[in-house]
Amino acid sequence: MKHFINLKDIPAKDLRKIIVDTKKRKNLRKKLSTLEVDKGSPLKGKMLVQMFEKASSRTRISFYLAIKQLGGGTLTLRSNELHLGQGGESISDTAKILSTYGDGFMLRTDSDKKIEDFKKYLSIPIINGLSPSSHPTQVLSDVFTVEEITKKPISKLSISWIGDSNNVLDSLIAASVKFSFKLSIGCPKKFEPGKKVRDWVKKNKRKIFIYNNAKEAVKGADVIFSDKVISLNDKINKKKKIEQFKKFKINKKLISFAKKNCIFLHCLPRGNEVSDEVFLGKKSHVWQQALNRVHVQKSILLYCFGKLR
Ligand code: CP
Ligand code: NVA
Repeated sequence: MKHFINLKDIPAKDLRKIIVDTKKRKNLRKKLSTLEVDKGSPLKGKMLVQMFEKASSRTRISFYLAIKQLGGGTLTLRSNELHLGQGGESISDTAKILSTYGDGFMLRTDSDKKIEDFKKYLSIPIINGLSPSSHPTQVLSDVFTVEEITKKPISKLSISWIGDSNNVLDSLIAASVKFSFKLSIGCPKKFEPGKKVRDWVKKNKRKIFIYNNAKEAVKGADVIFSDKVISLNDKINKKKKIEQFKKFKINKKLISFAKKNCIFLHCLPRGNEVSDEVFLGKKSHVWQQALNRVHVQKSILLYCFGKLR
């Protein structure tokens, strides 16, 4: 049984296999409409339970479509509707019940420990749909999108991240090690990636490049990534943090320091870290990026269900 919790814990060859499958599968369903099932119905009869302790638009809808297109079904829950969320039932009992009714479990939570606890008691695969330390399904999908648009292996590209050191960046850092691409990060000193993640990069004999200057961080970039400065349930002084990121706004001027044909990606939802002109402009591929979540998550589901060929 394969879980999908953190990119850093998944072998690079498995991650590549998922992307190769996505490419094949996406091509094959060009003429199919939204809810038509892929040939062979590979997850026929399977049910994915997805539970959200935090808001979600894309992850929720894209997982629904992903399992549907593979012939299975999904049940979406909010934790406060369960005895677990009300504090009246343990994780171990809830996990046992989920394993009795369902075939896979996707969880978006504010607690990395909760994912690990569920993993301990589940007898079905668990997928991390965003946690404080990781957003692995988003970032694997983003690797696919980058390669789809540029038609180059990501290892040949220079990737920049302008923004907070958050869960999405942590997964992007893990991806930079697994897929061997150059990653430059632009953020204020106070918001640089933590020691734990930097030590992990070092241990894996790779390097990330950190700049406290946005212009330096995007120089020569093929791809510029960003995310909201204020993440879901961020408990800090929001006004102050936004002010600290003022010089890291992605606008046309900043993009002009990257490669001429560079692309802009953003996982959404967005705040004011990027100008409308860039976000809605020609270099931006954010809608294609969001759609690809469906395609990549299908291959992630197949991987977890032991059906990836
Ligand atoms: N990008 C992303 O995960 O979006 P949602 O929060 O809407 O799921
Ligand atoms: N970093 C953001 C990502 C949202 C998809 C958050 O955690 O809220």
